Amino acid sequence: MSMNIIGAAAAQKSVLGMLIDDHCEAEALFKEFKLANNNAQKHAIVQQACLALTEHAEIEEKHLYPYLRDADPETFSHLLDEAKVEVSSARDLIALLKNMKPGDALYDARFTVLEKFTNQHISEEEGGVFPKVISQGIDLQELARPILEAKKLSIRAQARYHF
Ligand SMILES: [Fe+2]
Repeated sequence: MSMNIIGAAAAQKSVLGMLIDDHCEAEALFKEFKLANNNAQKHAIVQQACLALTEHAEIEEKHLYPYLRDADPETFSHLLDEAKVEVSSARDLIALLKNMKPGDALYDARFTVLEKFTNQHISEEEGGVFPKVISQGIDLQELARPILEAKKLSIRAQARYHF
């Protein structure tokens, strides 16, 4: 019994920690973009941010959101409906940015709006969804392994491995 409680606490820390690490990485990239002083740097940062955010959204949509909806629909359904709409707006911007280059009309504006969506996503999860996972005592043990596996298989992880 006590092992289960310890396991559940460790899983919450591990799963939420991985997702918060993604959020920190995105925030760092948006900061780097503001400091970039040439187009090659800007382009590399935007492409990296688009990939990082896409992979993060896929992990949350495939693993976390359905799991929370199932575990406690009353607490999470409304919050996750909003998250779904926001992710879809971010995806539209990412799709546009992936095919653009610095200097194109609306390039900086689109990345700035993507930052705003991302900040909202982060504050809603870290200020709403994640604290509720903890306060409702949601057991995330079943999620730790698939999320870790998804992160290992991500394009960025493979790129790090190969280069
Ligand atoms: Fe997130």
